[in-house]
Amino acid sequence: MKLCMIGTGYVGLVSGVCFSDLGNEVICVDRDIKKIQNLKKGIIPIYEPGLDELVKKNYNNNRLKFSTNLKESISKSDIIFICVGTPTKKNGIGADLSQIYNVAKEIRSVISKFKIIITKSTVPVTTGDEIEKIISQKTSKKLFSVVSNPEFLREGEAIRDFIYPDRVVVGTDNKRSNRILKNLYSPLMSKGAKYINTSRRAAELIKYASNAFLATKITFINEIANLCEKINVNVEDISIGMGLDKRIGGRFLRAGPAYGGSCFPKDTKAIVNTANKFQTNLSVIKSVVKSNENRSSLLLNRVIDILDGKVKNKKICFLGVTFKANTDDMRDSSSLSMIPSLLKKGAKINYFDPTGEKDDFKKFKDVNFSSNINSAIKESDLIIIHTEWNDFKSINFKKIVVKKKFIVFDMRNIYSPLKMKKQKIKYFGLGC
Ligand SMILES: NC(=O)c1ccc[n+]([C@@H]2O[C@H](COP(=O)([O-])OP(=O)(O)OC[C@H]3O[C@@H](n4cnc5c(N)ncnc54)[C@H](O)[C@@H]3O)[C@@H](O)[C@H]2O)c1
Repeated sequence: MKLCMIGTGYVGLVSGVCFSDLGNEVICVDRDIKKIQNLKKGIIPIYEPGLDELVKKNYNNNRLKFSTNLKESISKSDIIFICVGTPTKKNGIGADLSQIYNVAKEIRSVISKFKIIITKSTVPVTTGDEIEKIISQKTSKKLFSVVSNPEFLREGEAIRDFIYPDRVVVGTDNKRSNRILKNLYSPLMSKGAKYINTSRRAAELIKYASNAFLATKITFINEIANLCEKINVNVEDISIGMGLDKRIGGRFLRAGPAYGGSCFPKDTKAIVNTANKFQTNLSVIKSVVKSNENRSSLLLNRVIDILDGKVKNKKICFLGVTFKANTDDMRDSSSLSMIPSLLKKGAKINYFDPTGEKDDFKKFKDVNFSSNINSAIKESDLIIIHTEWNDFKSINFKKIVVKKKFIVFDMRNIYSPLKMKKQKIKYFGLGC
């Protein structure tokens, strides 16, 4: 099939490449000229394990193309996936859908034969109705069908998640579109994915409800961790004890910093905003948003306590600054609020991240990027394990750190408190 992915970011690039690997002809379009020029040269704009090779393979065999020409790419394709960003509005309330509607306006001027227009971007309920309205202002409804097909891939596991999804959700009442999409996704269904056809609005809501539920699970265990710290119980025992119950499940039940990334923070706020529009109070999700927003300052206070209130001139090292491991995505990472707050209190920050130096911290005089773990932690008073990269799981702190009285604050509970105690390392975990 001939596909066009509009927006070549985490979702558009990964799904475009995977669709091409399944034998489809795919054009990945982006308005970012540099990004497309680089992709044509084999330079991948994001860190995603395995993506590099898959792009090269499919670009070289001509099934995958890159373009900045939106109109030409649309007219050459039968199925158009909208994969542009849907960030939170500048006023902090609801999703900014301007990128989506701009694309809809471009699409409507090109359609001359039947096309399926799909939102793969996460969009609030009724966005599909709006896209249909925009396109039908210039095009006959017989020439297009607007479908919701939300994407559930996780950064860091994106290729695997795309090829082996738990489910493929297709929201449409249009039989022709449903038949074509079932065919497009049939190679994934033969690997065990369930194909679910729902109404368009239901598909839009499934995505938000799923993300809000996962964010709730994380926030729930983070709050239980706060209680554990007060009663001398290890939250890891609670996670295991709860997670073995099949009704609960152990995934997304590990205490850590505030959830971040490009999805959970914006999607929880957006679903609350949608519900408000329909006079519905999503009180659980509202409190999740609030609890998560408070978490970074709560952990900041914990850092201050760990340092006995003496933060000034302390050398603090962050291991990992992205919102989670195996991605270079900094969007809404808790390090973005914690590092500036510690700087204000006079700390000197050093950090190492396996995905390299971050532009976000270049403006700060007292933030230094180290190119490896050893040089990052060597002179530290306090080492904060912020992200759960495998690289951080077996560090010989005693051998590397030169200070006698250094402290490790493990925000991912990677290390065993008992083993650290045996090594006489002053160690703090979360919820223990
Ligand atoms: N990142 C994830 O893990 C993930 C997972 C599932 C769903 N989603 C959803 O998918 C959507 C995209 O997320 P992302 O992380 O891939 O975003 P992204 O910011 O990485 O990529 C979006 C791309 O769209 C391009 N773009 C914007 N307007 C354009 C236009 N008019 N023409 C061509 N290109 C245009 C941008 O230049 C950018 O490269 C969002 O709605 C997000 O919520 C993201």
